[in-house]
Amino acid sequence: MEKVKFGIVGIGNMGSSHVRSIGTMTNAELTAVCDINPDAFSRIDSETRAKINCYTDLEKFLSEADIDAVIVAVPHYDHPSIAIAAMRHGKHVIVEKPITVHKKLALELLEESAKHPELVRALMLNQRTIPAHMKIKHLIDSGELGKITRVNWIITDWFRTQSYYDSGDWRASWRGEGGGVLLNQCPHQLDLMQWFFGMPERVRATAKFGKYHDIEVEDEVNAYLEYADGKVGNFIASTGEMPGTNRLEITADRGRIVFEHGKLEFIRNEIPTSVHIKTCKQGFKKSDTWLCDVRTSGDAPYQHRNIIQNVTNAILNGEELISPLEEGIKGLELGNAMLLSGLKDKTVELPIDAEEFAVEIEKLIATSRYTKNVKKLANTDDFGNSF
Ligand SMILES: NC(=O)c1ccc[n+]([C@@H]2O[C@H](COP(=O)([O-])OP(=O)(O)OC[C@H]3O[C@@H](n4cnc5c(N)ncnc54)[C@H](O)[C@@H]3O)[C@@H](O)[C@H]2O)c1
Repeated sequence: MEKVKFGIVGIGNMGSSHVRSIGTMTNAELTAVCDINPDAFSRIDSETRAKINCYTDLEKFLSEADIDAVIVAVPHYDHPSIAIAAMRHGKHVIVEKPITVHKKLALELLEESAKHPELVRALMLNQRTIPAHMKIKHLIDSGELGKITRVNWIITDWFRTQSYYDSGDWRASWRGEGGGVLLNQCPHQLDLMQWFFGMPERVRATAKFGKYHDIEVEDEVNAYLEYADGKVGNFIASTGEMPGTNRLEITADRGRIVFEHGKLEFIRNEIPTSVHIKTCKQGFKKSDTWLCDVRTSGDAPYQHRNIIQNVTNAILNGEELISPLEEGIKGLELGNAMLLSGLKDKTVELPIDAEEFAVEIEKLIATSRYTKNVKKLANTDDFGNSF
């Protein structure tokens, strides 16, 4: 195989962006797309559209289209069923983030995924390819920071207006989307939290539902995390603040990292805190420091293409995956734990009980204002033949 033939399911905001990304690649090509709404195909430029097949029926798409790999870019509830169907047809998969809505559904997907080790299975965790994020990961894993004691991530610049929430009927509803800021806007930060720092043992959070918008899901979360090694974390997210903040601060034995406004700054202690605190004879004196402006190079604007390229290389020549599908459950579980804590008004231990959380989501779905059933493409034939 010289080129990987991709198909995309869901040609909305993200799927149409993936169409353009694949168009810029040399060892991948788009051969087919699938969407339950045929109007979605108008998002594809006419030149590309002339070269591909468009389907409205998933089963036909999977059995007839000339594709090696499928990108799943539909609303989150349907990620598992479509990815499972694709793997059963022998297709490599890239699933959009979040892996799905809750841990129980994600476990079902991963159970099937484990049966297909011959296929490449990845999640679109594109922010792992941001050079500064890769640098932070390296600084942590190489021991450069020493023991981490506190992590604060304020991610309140996900501002959204009411018109955003009104732009798609599945959005911000328990039945259609399954969650709010934790599930739609924050999956990247939740994944990076676990990628950088591991999973906490305990989470205590407050979640506010429709605090700033006329929506039923959470648009503000304040969470406190406790880790087995003594480290603590604070995670604060909102879609109702302007201008909002995106600031990651990591306090460690050898200094402090701040990543904000695209700038990565490391204030490095000349003497590690754990040593200085015991050996310094002056009561208020801190160690001297260096201010390090950490520079990174790389292709930050092409994050999604980076993942598609990585998967293409994995299929063609076994390149190691940046974001394996099975890692997607960790960030999801972190968000689920925050929501569960907020709903129950109590501290939640991790790993969470997948069944317990699924029951909570079912209760919320029962109260949902969104009345349509979650769309299932696999068994529908609403629009007939491929065209
Ligand atoms: N990685 C990222 O940075 C990123 C950014 C935005 C969105 N996303 C993810 O991409 C997914 C889609 O989001 P979006 O903003 O593109 O949504 P969207 O509403 O713009 O598009 C969804 C498309 O999927 C189609 N669709 C819905 N159910 C379907 C089904 N069962 N089968 C086939 N087609 C179906 C719809 O008709 C629509 O065209 C979400 O899971 C979202 O979280 C990821």
